[in-house]
Amino acid sequence: MEKTLVLIKPKAVLRGLTGHIIARYESKGLKLAALKMVDATKEQLERHYEEHQGKPFYESLLESMLSGPIVALMLEGNQAVSAARLINGATNPIEAAPGSIRGDYGLEIEHNIVHGADVLESAQREISIWFPEKEDNE
Ligand code: RTP
Ligand code: MG
Repeated sequence: MEKTLVLIKPKAVLRGLTGHIIARYESKGLKLAALKMVDATKEQLERHYEEHQGKPFYESLLESMLSGPIVALMLEGNQAVSAARLINGATNPIEAAPGSIRGDYGLEIEHNIVHGADVLESAQREISIWFPEKEDNE
């Protein structure tokens, strides 16, 4: 079964939205395959966001991801990568549809409140960053 990686960002954790967010994925039918709260290291975030290195928002994105604990989820289900991305909504919360997580819980693109792997290959790469102890993650 397909697996994907979601990060609930520090601001959402601080706002007490973790349970609400997890419930969205679970009620869609995605299964929690692993979950952890983690104080990310800069090294982990540099690996996670390597595609964005050098972009104007890169430094502030890392800073925001270092501002508190994140909650990492491994979710499993039919077409889990696409399903989680749709539940997350568009990158810019202003454009994200109401009913999506980003559409319902935020206003600023730099502070959207969740991350979701964009394709299967990214999901596998990201799972190895956040859940290195899970060997069988394909
Ligand atoms: P994500 O990776 O977080 O699931 O989001 P995404 O694929 O929809 O968007 P992506 O382009 O990968 O951007 C990653 C994160 O960087 C921040 N961002 N800020 N200020 C900006 O123009 C801007 N663009 C992107 C967002 O926090 C976004 O989630
Ligand atoms: Mg992305």
